[in-house]
Amino acid sequence: MALALETIRERVGQRKQWYHTLELAPGVITPGWFDLRTVAPQVLPVSLAGKRCLDVGTFDGFWAFEMEKRGASEVVAVDIVDPRAWDWPITAGDELVQILEDRKQGGAGFPIAAEAFDSKVTYKECSVYDLDEAEVGRFDFVFMGSLLLHLRDPIRALECLRGVCASDGIVCTMDAIDPTMSVLFPRRAMATFDGDGRPWWWMPNIAAYARMVKAAGLEPIGRPTPVRLPRGGGHPIVKPSRKVLMNREGRRLLAATRKGDPQAWIHSRPVAI
Ligand SMILES: C[S@@+](CC[C@H](N)C(=O)[O-])C[C@H]1O[C@@H](n2cnc3c(N)ncnc32)[C@H](O)[C@@H]1O
Repeated sequence: MALALETIRERVGQRKQWYHTLELAPGVITPGWFDLRTVAPQVLPVSLAGKRCLDVGTFDGFWAFEMEKRGASEVVAVDIVDPRAWDWPITAGDELVQILEDRKQGGAGFPIAAEAFDSKVTYKECSVYDLDEAEVGRFDFVFMGSLLLHLRDPIRALECLRGVCASDGIVCTMDAIDPTMSVLFPRRAMATFDGDGRPWWWMPNIAAYARMVKAAGLEPIGRPTPVRLPRGGGHPIVKPSRKVLMNREGRRLLAATRKGDPQAWIHSRPVAI
């Protein structure tokens, strides 16, 4: 049964932070960190009618709900609810883990959105590394967004996506890329590395991103397509100042505030081995 507008509004207001911008009812929009509503039509097929779909690392569920809206016969969304179970560098401090726990609030955004949308998406707590065909079956369309960057072993994660994708299915990933390295080295696979106190690991250029997909036994359908992820109403705004402009991270944040976070998406098919 559809929830009353006032109930949805109240539930949206009760959450301190949302990751996704979701229009849960006419005019009731969550103040997300990212607003991917203009990105989804570029990345997802117009129709997923009759397809079994998987969304890995769903957070508030934006991509899972978008797949459901496109007619998927079934959507399964998986995530790790406790940020402590993410791939953290051993040097990470408790402070940042706590910030992420506050943002995640035990994954409370997803059920609020699912009820507001009267959604049939199934939510399952599972790491990408533990996706098992025997347990979840195979999917016609597998989506994973903004997660490779946060994984110590991104190629293994891509292999796990391949392992639950139907032989004629599609794996679609969209993830962070290094825009400067993509321009400077259009053909040479290169990546920058962070691994410094936060769960940020490799940021490939576009050539490396395509190679990562191939290394996992997936055949890219075309080259990765660059896209900018627009920030949502809940994202802190970085303003230009001497301090911001003086360091590389400040300049990166300023550019991302203005233009959106640089990513690329790619569709690929499992290679028969
Ligand atoms: C940066 S958010 C991306 C949210 C969403 N996928 C998107 O593209 O907008 C990363 C998400 O991946 C989840 N996550 C982190 N490590 C994971 C893992 N090993 N397996 C599955 N999900 C994971 C986090 O809990 C979080 O929900």
